[in-house]
Amino acid sequence: MALDLAVRSADPSTLKTPLLAILLPAGNALPAGLKQLDGALDGAISTALKRGDFRGGRDETLHLQGRAGAPERVLLVGLGKPTSLPLGLRRGGALAGRQGHKLGVGQMSVWTPRADKAGVEAIGVGLNLGAWEYTELKTPPVPEERRAPLTAATIVAANAASLRNAVAAASAIGSGYELTRRLAMMPGNVCTPDYLADTARDVAKRHRLTLTVLGRKEMEKEGMGSFLSVAQGTPQEPRLVSMEYKGGRKGAPPIVLVGKGLCFDTGGISIKPAERMEFMKFDMCGAAAVIGAMEAIARLKLKTNVVGVFGATTNMPSGTAVKPGDVVNASTGKSIEIINTDAEGRLVLADVLAWVKRFQPAAVVDAATLTGACVIALGNAASGALGNDDRLVREVIGASMTAGEPAWQLPLWDEYRELIKSDVADLKNTGGRAAGTITAALFLKEFADFPWVHLDVAGTAYSETDLVMIPRGPTGVPMGTFVQFVRGRTR
Ligand code: BES
Ligand code: MN
Ligand code: ZN
Repeated sequence: MALDLAVRSADPSTLKTPLLAILLPAGNALPAGLKQLDGALDGAISTALKRGDFRGGRDETLHLQGRAGAPERVLLVGLGKPTSLPLGLRRGGALAGRQGHKLGVGQMSVWTPRADKAGVEAIGVGLNLGAWEYTELKTPPVPEERRAPLTAATIVAANAASLRNAVAAASAIGSGYELTRRLAMMPGNVCTPDYLADTARDVAKRHRLTLTVLGRKEMEKEGMGSFLSVAQGTPQEPRLVSMEYKGGRKGAPPIVLVGKGLCFDTGGISIKPAERMEFMKFDMCGAAAVIGAMEAIARLKLKTNVVGVFGATTNMPSGTAVKPGDVVNASTGKSIEIINTDAEGRLVLADVLAWVKRFQPAAVVDAATLTGACVIALGNAASGALGNDDRLVREVIGASMTAGEPAWQLPLWDEYRELIKSDVADLKNTGGRAAGTITAALFLKEFADFPWVHLDVAGTAYSETDLVMIPRGPTGVPMGTFVQFVRGRTR
């Protein structure tokens, strides 16, 4: 469950809360709003500022003891230079939420000097990101070892009434991130293509979205030989799922969000090395972000038509699996020579992209953990963004920046097209090691007959190491980018 978020007006000095996090920008002045609290704590805050024990630098924290009748604990959290707001507030909120969760206080409060709508939303989203932990598969600890999870947080601000919508937005986006990360974290034996489809059905039911689910049979009828070539190695039913949210004018062209949903990617016959293969349960992060975004968009009641679509299967080696050299036909008729069965994401997405043309999309944005090459090019700090419409690419990158999930453009020039020409078919599914992210996107481009942007999130959807804001594991990227992009088109 996402955090129960609230906003209210109060003087921090009289707050009855187990933990008050105070988010402060760089500097050593005591904000006027903290004078009373500082007095109640015998000058602990002003002393820390004066001594330089706390300077408000980014990610800096200082834990102070509170008092009876005042907050029981106080946590100072640095925001760094004020120019980085509101993303700094999101980061500060995440640090605070993480601390609140670690301390096991159950409920906490947050205060910051100048909280406007964007700032309060950012803090709320941050709190949700920071407090998240995946515990579903752990057996419950003995009561005396149990730490209360953080379930509620109150943002304390002067003009609370005008900030209610911002808190509601943070809750909606928080729910989207939570669903995305939960699905991503689930192991491959639990989060199967059917499980993803069932989760989409649940979202659709709760928000009255139109749900469509295709299985192997229906995909055969559509001639989706590309998608099915990946699915032929597993007995699990592959799923192509769409969720239609109709918040806009009737008949207005929708925004279509597409996700890669490989519930596990062994590589198939071109099998991956055993080392770190377990991370390939995260190969459905694109689909998880689509489902999470639909949850958030429906909660936000955005006045736009949006369709969320994903293709889900598992890439397995088996007696029935597709082999290197095999040639298959996508639903558009294009023939594809499969050079490497580990380049399966583009094979799935080819048929999914061709299929979404039926929605006559205003724009399509897909997200996929598509290439290791993208991790080499951009590391873990940015997703790759490529598309057939430069203005749309810039728009999506803008949304990614606002959402705090940076994406960066790579060129999708025709020069690279040579690399995916096949001797026997129209296309081959790999272009060699050079420009691996670009050739993968060029392959997708063959099936994207509408304004389209591809986000390669191989390096950003999950982290193998702990990050400042969030522990190792799924980050939720690009759920926030999806939502922000749709919001940007709504105003
Ligand atoms: N799911 C992987 C890409 C990936 C790699 C995601 C590392 C996250 C971290 C994808 O299906 C894949 O295996 N791509 C191959 C393509 C190659 C065979 C052309 C790759 O990147 O090695
Ligand atoms: Mn693969
Ligand atoms: Zn993959």
